[in-house]
Amino acid sequence: MIISVTSLKGGVGKSTIAQNIAVCLAHMGYKVCIVDADTNQSSLRWSTFRDEDLPGVAVFGIPDGKMLSSNVKHLNDDYEIVVIDGTPSLSKVTSKILLLGDLIIVPILPSGLDIWATEQFIERYEDAKDQKERDIPAYFILNQYSGSINLNKEVKEVLADLDIKTLKHSLKSRVAYKQAVIEGLGVYEYKDNKAKDEIIQVTNEIKDLITNL
Ligand SMILES: Nc1ncnc2c1ncn2[C@@H]1O[C@H](COP(=O)(O)OP(=O)(O)O)[C@@H](O)[C@H]1O
Ligand SMILES: [Mg+2]
Repeated sequence: MIISVTSLKGGVGKSTIAQNIAVCLAHMGYKVCIVDADTNQSSLRWSTFRDEDLPGVAVFGIPDGKMLSSNVKHLNDDYEIVVIDGTPSLSKVTSKILLLGDLIIVPILPSGLDIWATEQFIERYEDAKDQKERDIPAYFILNQYSGSINLNKEVKEVLADLDIKTLKHSLKSRVAYKQAVIEGLGVYEYKDNKAKDEIIQVTNEIKDLITNL
């Protein structure tokens, strides 16, 4: 099972979400790995801080688009779940990541600029579906979202009209995400219980989606 976390924008939370759902899935008993497809190698670096006694999340850095498909397919034989931490570019790599995913997760920040970027992303996604000749289940996930801010609520309404659905659960802006990453942890393993609860909810929602594929 391949979960692609991708977007056309940088800084939206791809690496944060890839790491945190992978850690959560590892605690749920899945054999899981991350493929870090970004040249900045954030997840690869994160893994070097990770304590060996924690549930294992192997990270493979594959920033070379040419190697990506074959390597991911092999890893998919060895691991129950492969989470791809995608690149923020408009390059062919993004199309490959879309084609590889059994499920696509697209982090989005609740701002107008990010909503405008979805148009281009949806075009890329539609092209990938045509190429694959079948549907590719894809969901936005609102990151750094707060339901108490009116603008954020409006963003949710705009997303509801798009071809890509939005996950029911979202992530708030929390220091825990920034702190956990430099300790090689997921927030599941960190002392902020609210962050832990929200990542469990998101991961369970994703788990339900993949079991129904
Ligand atoms: N929910 C969140 N709460 C707080 N900080 C976050 C959250 N999600 C991401 N960040 C921070 O935002 C920045 C960009 O996130 P990152 O995961 O690196 O995005 P991307 O991989 O899409 O470029 C990082 O500094 C990260 O720690
Ligand atoms: Mg990243």
